[in-house]
Amino acid sequence: MSQTGSVISLEHDTPELARSYDEAGLVQFRHGKFLIGPLAIKSGEHVLDIGTGTGRLAEFVTGLVGPNGRVTGIDPLAGRIEIARLRQSDNLQFDTGRAEDLSRFADGQFDAVYLNSVFHWIADKDRALREIRRVLKPGGRLGLNVQDPSRPHQSRVLLRQAIAEAGLADRRQDSNPVLGSTDEELKALFAANGFTGYRSELRALVDIHDDAASLLRWSEASAFGNFLEAFSATERNLVHQAFAKLVEDRRTPEGLSLERYLRFAFARKAPASN
Ligand SMILES: C[S@@+](CC[C@H](N)C(=O)[O-])C[C@H]1O[C@@H](n2cnc3c(N)ncnc32)[C@H](O)[C@@H]1O
Repeated sequence: MSQTGSVISLEHDTPELARSYDEAGLVQFRHGKFLIGPLAIKSGEHVLDIGTGTGRLAEFVTGLVGPNGRVTGIDPLAGRIEIARLRQSDNLQFDTGRAEDLSRFADGQFDAVYLNSVFHWIADKDRALREIRRVLKPGGRLGLNVQDPSRPHQSRVLLRQAIAEAGLADRRQDSNPVLGSTDEELKALFAANGFTGYRSELRALVDIHDDAASLLRWSEASAFGNFLEAFSATERNLVHQAFAKLVEDRRTPEGLSLERYLRFAFARKAPASN
């Protein structure tokens, strides 16, 4: 992992964060479509959405596989799966589960697997990729997008600055890690785990937020609570105030405009790798 000294916990999520993620989840949905396009999902296919969150993108993919296909979404957070299940249908199923353990699925079951804004959170990426390769059909497609630590989001850079201005820079590493994988790391991981035809592209995405408070709520909900949690309430308040001043400089007539960078990576299960 590229982050130093940080442990991501699945225990910080709350029903409120899950609800707020679903309400603001259009941001991830929008960039998720850039992931789905190149996967060329066809009618009748069986697709696995790992880290499906509240299931918005999986529901969209169900429209691509049609009535003869099937989409399965898994996520470790029970509160998010509870919301996702409101979207459930005959060919769209959701369950709790993690990328590192896909033992409930048979070998060679899926035509395509994708992870939208999920891979940077996975602790054991080798294990996850081994499992994904196992459940893919020979030649099956994998698509994911991931933060690239060499290109942190603008909001992360400003947050780091806000933490420094609040006099808390010495604790920054633990509380504001930049997660993710570089192109070289991804390429090596994919090759080591039996994928072929790796290609990737770093995309700049522009997000518009109403104000600093809504941007911070969105960041916390997207990180299922792994966000500034090492700070006390008073310290967080200081960081929030400094951050609000910094992001206000980015106001455009549409709202606060900030760039995020995501690396989109695609590959196939090597036909003879089973
Ligand atoms: C930013 S959300 C993205 C949700 C969804 N893919 C979307 O497009 O809206 C990140 C998701 O990754 C999930 N996640 C974290 N660790 C995971 C793991 N080890 N395996 C699978 N999913 C994981 C979280 O529970 C969370 O729902």
